[in-house]
Amino acid sequence: NEIYFNGLFGRLPELPMDFAGLERRAEAAMSASLWSYVAGGAGDERTQRANVRAFDQWGLVPRMLVGAKARNLTVDLFGLELPSPLFLAPVGVIGLCAQDGHGDLATARAAARTGVPMVASTLSVDPLEDVAKQFGDTPGFFQLYTPTDRELAQSLVSRAEAAGFRGIVVTLDTWVTGWRPRDLSTGNFPQLRGHCLANYFTDPVFRSRLATPPEQDPSSAVLTWTQIFGNPLTWADLDWLRSLTSLPLILKGLSHPEDVRRARDAGVDGVYCSNHGGRQANGGLPALDTLPEVVAAADGLPVLFDSGVRSGADAAKALALGATAVGIGRPYAYGLALGGEEGMVHVLRTLLAELDLVMAVDGYPSLADLTPEALRRVHV
Ligand code: FNR
Repeated sequence: NEIYFNGLFGRLPELPMDFAGLERRAEAAMSASLWSYVAGGAGDERTQRANVRAFDQWGLVPRMLVGAKARNLTVDLFGLELPSPLFLAPVGVIGLCAQDGHGDLATARAAARTGVPMVASTLSVDPLEDVAKQFGDTPGFFQLYTPTDRELAQSLVSRAEAAGFRGIVVTLDTWVTGWRPRDLSTGNFPQLRGHCLANYFTDPVFRSRLATPPEQDPSSAVLTWTQIFGNPLTWADLDWLRSLTSLPLILKGLSHPEDVRRARDAGVDGVYCSNHGGRQANGGLPALDTLPEVVAAADGLPVLFDSGVRSGADAAKALALGATAVGIGRPYAYGLALGGEEGMVHVLRTLLAELDLVMAVDGYPSLADLTPEALRRVHV
């Protein structure tokens, strides 16, 4: 009812209600380099676009006379009862999307207000302990880019445990940055990376590796970081990764069913199907197309999914294809850039409202009702 009554009383939203409008406004509001960093992807961005288009190839079949007056969007994820199946995908350097530079904290506060959990990136402007303090009752997850220095990796994970994070997401597809023409054109990386190393600069193990504290010699600290940042993990590292934590361990970037089976056998708690929003490798399959095989291979393990979700209806389709929880990426970064914490809450509320209404109108009152049977291929 909010939809028509607000109009009746002349109340208009300050921010766009749809992704296309949000994207347009964000481009106008953000600096060229920040825009290129957030909106850009790998190569000519074909995979990035395909991620979004893949959702057009599925349609939900409405069911009538179901009486879906009340909907149940709750989901059990690693024993945590969540009010909805959405989560905030890790976005490194998200801090800079907020006017005051503290977008990590704003994101965590938006998570607290909406119950949508944040997966906090290793690459943050504010240290993970400060981010975790903003979560309220909403659980948070820590995303690890695994450094070559194993003692440092353990330190980051132990700090996340001590700070109250409820799971560790290890991202596998970004031990080296992909070919990103937009960022190469704007000369972005050196400009951005110094701003996202709070977790390293505050880390006792990292500090012990420096001759001079980062406060006195930030350039050398950044250089040291570049030497230890990316680590191309192999299957041989999986036992070690598992030994880092007793928290749920989730591997991000899995698309091939054989990889999912191996991860499962190695004792991970969840798999995260994603192609990094098409930022890492161009020329790949849309992430949504890989989801059904990942779900089948996961054989009951929770499957997190992201890449290309732009609406509540998109989230419903990913859930119907078997995702346990669905990650939002760029849309929340745009909300943050346009309206800070309020902007993010706005974006999350619009996504949740649309998901809820799609479930109502199409007659799928709970997530358990959203199965592949709810979907058909679109032929146009
Ligand atoms: C990301 N992503 C990402 N993933 C990760 O594991 N650690 C990170 O630090 C980042 N950083 C990052 C920065 C920016 C600007 C973006 C847009 C994305 C990938 C992210 O978690 C997610 O996989 C994608 O955002 C999903 O694609 P869409 O839906 O945003 O297009």
